[in-house]
Amino acid sequence: MATYGPESTPTQVTAPTAANRPRPTVTAPWIRAGKGRGEPLVMVTAYDAPTARVADGAGVDLILVGDSLAMVVLGYDDTLHVTVDDMAHHTAAVARTSPRPMVVADLPWMSYHTGATDAVRNAATLVRAGAQAVKLEGGRKRLAVIEAIIDAEIPVMGHLGLTPQSFHSMGGFKVQGKDLEAAKVLVDDARALAGAGCFAVVLEGIPDVVAQLITESVDVPTIGIGAGPHCDGQVLVWHDVLGFDEQRPPKFVRRYAALQADATDALGRWVGDVRAGRFPDDSESYHLAAPTVPSLVHH
Ligand code: KIV
Repeated sequence: MATYGPESTPTQVTAPTAANRPRPTVTAPWIRAGKGRGEPLVMVTAYDAPTARVADGAGVDLILVGDSLAMVVLGYDDTLHVTVDDMAHHTAAVARTSPRPMVVADLPWMSYHTGATDAVRNAATLVRAGAQAVKLEGGRKRLAVIEAIIDAEIPVMGHLGLTPQSFHSMGGFKVQGKDLEAAKVLVDDARALAGAGCFAVVLEGIPDVVAQLITESVDVPTIGIGAGPHCDGQVLVWHDVLGFDEQRPPKFVRRYAALQADATDALGRWVGDVRAGRFPDDSESYHLAAPTVPSLVHH
């Protein structure tokens, strides 16, 4: 017979680096119950095995296989170009590393806009690829779809504010919720998402005071990106926070490395060594056992 652990005291695992003190294995109920826990949640995007290992080693709580995949990995100008198959392919690569953080995968544009049946089927594809939850964008008009996915036992993370899949209807990547009416819509949307059962809500590109108001109005954690410090957690895109990108980052990004510059410099030094005949050297070459060499040379 299967044994079940207590609901709110998940197993303790020890992660491999000094950055990681033992932390609970992360689940949707653990995140949901963590509202007001005190310590902010940390989520970062990752899209493949190496980026997932870095995120896990750094001790984040959640890995988001975001549809930002389209822009930071696949080279598109917006997020509208990724498909469920693309998302499943990259979610599976992340999940194969068996990370301690919870893996959340984005439902891409048009994978949940055509009705609940399509949405549930596409969410299931991402779960079968290894996600433990899905994220989708939008407020009250997505409630039926959210409820159907949750009814299929798949946890849902909401996403409000600057929702990149609405790029065209918003007229670009623009900060949202800037007037009283728009802020009120966001608060009501957030309450509706929490009421429908979302275990957390991402708040993107909204004024800090609006994010604070939403955070105080809902009983599930908010996770902010460009939404100020008064959220229950923060999320950034892997390539932004690590500087694996040539473009100037948006104002809300704090860079902790310059991997693009470092990688270009390192690779450039290898190119120089090859061209100058310094690579490979003797220690980087395989050798035959000494007695074999003369006979080889004489034949
Ligand atoms: O796709 C993504 O990276 C996201 C984050 C910006 C929250 O949705």
